[in-house]
Amino acid sequence: NDLYAVVGNPVSHSKSPRIHGLFAAQTGEAMEYTAIQAPLEEFAETVRGFFAQGGKGLNVTVPFKEQAWELADVRSDRAQKAGAANTLYLDESGRLMADNTDGAGLVRDLTYNAGVSLRDRKILILGAGGAVRGVLGPILAEQPAEVTIANRTVVKAQGLVSLFADDAGNTSLGAAGFATVKGPFDIIVNGTSASLMGDLPPVPDTAISDRTVVYDMMYAASTTPFNKWAREQGAEKVLDGVGMLIEQAAESFRIWRGVSPDTKTVMQELRPPMA
Ligand code: ATR
Repeated sequence: NDLYAVVGNPVSHSKSPRIHGLFAAQTGEAMEYTAIQAPLEEFAETVRGFFAQGGKGLNVTVPFKEQAWELADVRSDRAQKAGAANTLYLDESGRLMADNTDGAGLVRDLTYNAGVSLRDRKILILGAGGAVRGVLGPILAEQPAEVTIANRTVVKAQGLVSLFADDAGNTSLGAAGFATVKGPFDIIVNGTSASLMGDLPPVPDTAISDRTVVYDMMYAASTTPFNKWAREQGAEKVLDGVGMLIEQAAESFRIWRGVSPDTKTVMQELRPPMA
């Protein structure tokens, strides 16, 4: 069997082995997928060791996505722009290839699974860290009318606006602080890690109308604090990041195996029916 793994620290919570295990069973691909906890100072050694022993592909998670990007010999265009990589593999000549499937996963979950088109829509993105940088390119490629990046540290949002100015096309791309965003928005994506601290980005209630779709890139066993707030404001649709997680995995699987897994059935297996 071909060997794959997710590398992170910590990694025991990762759902990737389960997801890829289901993909493999479903498609009949002869592969195994495990989790590897790399010591914080030994990411490069762990990756090199894995491939030296015949490993075929790696997913990379917190806190190593930037290091994976640096380690690569060749980066896909989308990985290049994301500044981070979540998918590694070797090409025929043994070069370490890096891709980033996070943005594609988010866009696919929104457009295909949830039926929410981004084209010509007014979008608010909360946060300006690595998670947001990783998804901006694919979001802009959908040609929204407007993308506002709001962040606690506004200068970081402005930095992303500069970085992605060339990808904006006809999209009006701007930066703001949370308190000054002008809603309501068609779509709000929460890409901050505020929920980890039990915090909410202090966005005004007026950002949400009864036609707003809210997407929290985080997920948890129960509704995230951000999505709870969005529900209370009467958002039309409230989604969490489980779909993105499964779709980014599917995109990695396609890169490695050349086969598209069926994500719907995996979605049903992973998501306990919610009230
Ligand atoms: P990630 O890889 O998850 O994006 P990151 O690069 O550290 O991690 O970025 C974290 C993001 O969450 C940043 O936008 C951060 O805001 P700052 O740039 O102002 O630090 C945001 N964030 C983290 N904790 C937050 C909180 N309690 N309230 C609001 N925003 C928060």
